Amino acid sequence: MAREQNRFVCQACGAVTGKWAGRCESCGAWNSISEEAGSASSGAPKSAGRGRKLETGSLAAVEAEPPRRLSGIGEFDRVCGGGLVPGSAILVGGDPGIGKSTLLLQVMAALAKSGARTLYVSGEEAAAQIRLRARRLSLETAPVALVTETSLKDVLATMEAKPAPDIAVIDSIQTMWSDALEAAPGTVSQVRAVAHDLVRLAKRTGTVLLLVGHVTKDGQIAGPRVVEHMVDTVLYFEGERGHQFRILRAVKNRFGPTDEIGVFEMTDKGLSEVSNPSALFLTARDQWASGAAVFAGIEGTRPLLVEFQALAAPTSYGTPRRAVVGWDSARLSMVLAVLEARCGMQISGQDIYLSVAGGLRISEPGADLAAAAALVSSVLGRKLPEDCVIFGEVSLSGAIRPVGQPEARLKEAAKLGFKRAIAPPGARLDGIEVATVDTLSGLVDLIREG
Ligand code: TYD
Ligand code: MG
Repeated sequence: MAREQNRFVCQACGAVTGKWAGRCESCGAWNSISEEAGSASSGAPKSAGRGRKLETGSLAAVEAEPPRRLSGIGEFDRVCGGGLVPGSAILVGGDPGIGKSTLLLQVMAALAKSGARTLYVSGEEAAAQIRLRARRLSLETAPVALVTETSLKDVLATMEAKPAPDIAVIDSIQTMWSDALEAAPGTVSQVRAVAHDLVRLAKRTGTVLLLVGHVTKDGQIAGPRVVEHMVDTVLYFEGERGHQFRILRAVKNRFGPTDEIGVFEMTDKGLSEVSNPSALFLTARDQWASGAAVFAGIEGTRPLLVEFQALAAPTSYGTPRRAVVGWDSARLSMVLAVLEARCGMQISGQDIYLSVAGGLRISEPGADLAAAAALVSSVLGRKLPEDCVIFGEVSLSGAIRPVGQPEARLKEAAKLGFKRAIAPPGARLDGIEVATVDTLSGLVDLIREG
């Protein structure tokens, strides 16, 4: 008889092989394969017989969607695309200790107070610990149903029992385990099976399912691809260590825009909403220095002003340092190359540090011009005007490309008291003096002339 062999599963993509390898052949991840109990061939169950003919229905006859549930926590509702869609599954990922449990407890308490049936399943903390957190948040009287359990079977039975909860939180998906599998909790096979069963049940009962997912060292939810494909919405809760701000970001949403962000502040009484984040990401004007530039950006559907800070200093290394926080290092290299090649700037002998103030991560190409302005300002030692915002995309030829929604950006700037802007051609707004630049060397001249 053949020896029962364990199988090897890639913890990044879920691919199953019969032997260990240093690199996963299907997704290319290194050192991601680990051994799990169960045989490689026992993956898909064999089913016998033919399928049955399904009843088809016309699209027009599908019932209109039931109304979304609003938690009343505006930043959270907006990131979800305007409230929670019944029957949908939402994955909330983030580093340990970033505040996922705090946020979800606050959301659940708000929903429970508005009359929704809620269920909070914790596999990580004891009831007493959760009560302690609730007391700190002044939410200990909120009618949230609480269970501490890790067995998937029992959790499913609890969620199925009538009346089914309107909203259920599973904190966290890695702690739940299905006894149908031999693999240990937290492995890809378990996470996939647990997510699959929970999502199916939620679709059937119309429960909104909020799954908490831990993030691995390299910033991915364990078994990311497998779970991200199963859920309707993926939210990441992020923040820089040492900063009070927390950002909830939608990276996938079947029911709303992605790139939407919600901004929170972690206080001693939990997370409070920051409804005017632009003010938060700008430093006090009396500390305004060379190397600072205010970017008028759009995050999701909302305009947001953030400050780019650059520092150029003579290098003491053979290869100068390029350090960047909150922006893409490849884009920094590109902007530096264009400044050298097209604008005659001498940068190669300098260390360059670039950071986005406040711990925010910017991924919009429209930030190129603001980053370039901060760099040029630092290299030339010339301050930019304090009341000026900047946006535009830089192409390799040194041309400045227009970006989306220039008017919304300028309006946000005007609202916060800015009087001037440097922008690609076509941007205008009453009350803001716009200097248009169509090449990067135009920007350099503008800063040089002051
Ligand atoms: P938590 O929600 O437990 O994080 P996660 O579930 O993502 O692991 O948050 C834990 C951190 O938040 C902890 O370091 C303490 C801090 N915190 C506050 O600062 N204020 C509060 O009111 C609460 C409840 C937590
Ligand atoms: Mg937690």
